[in-house]
Amino acid sequence: MNENIPEVLISEADIQSRVLQLAEQISADYAHADDLVMVGVLKGSFMFLADLARRMSIPRTIEFIAVSSYGDSDASTGAVRLVMDVRGNIAGKHVLIVEDIVDTGHTLKYLIGMMKSHRVASVRTAALVRKADKAEVDVTVDYLGFDIGNEWVVGYGLDYAEQNRTLPYIGVVKPLDT
Ligand code: PRP
Repeated sequence: MNENIPEVLISEADIQSRVLQLAEQISADYAHADDLVMVGVLKGSFMFLADLARRMSIPRTIEFIAVSSYGDSDASTGAVRLVMDVRGNIAGKHVLIVEDIVDTGHTLKYLIGMMKSHRVASVRTAALVRKADKAEVDVTVDYLGFDIGNEWVVGYGLDYAEQNRTLPYIGVVKPLDT
């Protein structure tokens, strides 16, 4: 077995089927709302956002935001720093924050606060996966793909040391130093 190929945790078919369900649910929920803005959180959300947005059937625009956690990359300190804000004016619009993964929840909580400071009409959240056991703050994921355990996951936007982001499935890797 090739040790560089992560073991499949969530298959491409399962991801695509769940993304379609979420796209249909979001399209129904926002059917009567004008000005839906999908805000993708760089970098990890790029693939989920692309697939989700393409499967939706209502008008939507796309923005991106980038944040960074203080501290080293493996251990979240809970402090989040804004690296790049949205480019457009989102005041008065309905915002859907799109994340690849919710781990401790600090990033999503910070972003919800950020969106409120932009004086948006509403904020909801979508995430492909969530590590329920790692939650440190209470934050709602309105549109969730899958709950997972405490494995190190890669693929479909998620990386380990910037590798494996473009895998079409979610896989599990062992960190190099274990
Ligand atoms: C990941 C993910 C979230 C955040 C979640 O980003 O995309 O933004 O961590 O962690 P939390 O719930 O503990 O706050 P990461 O910092 O790995 O950056 P990347 O998306 O550029 O890979």
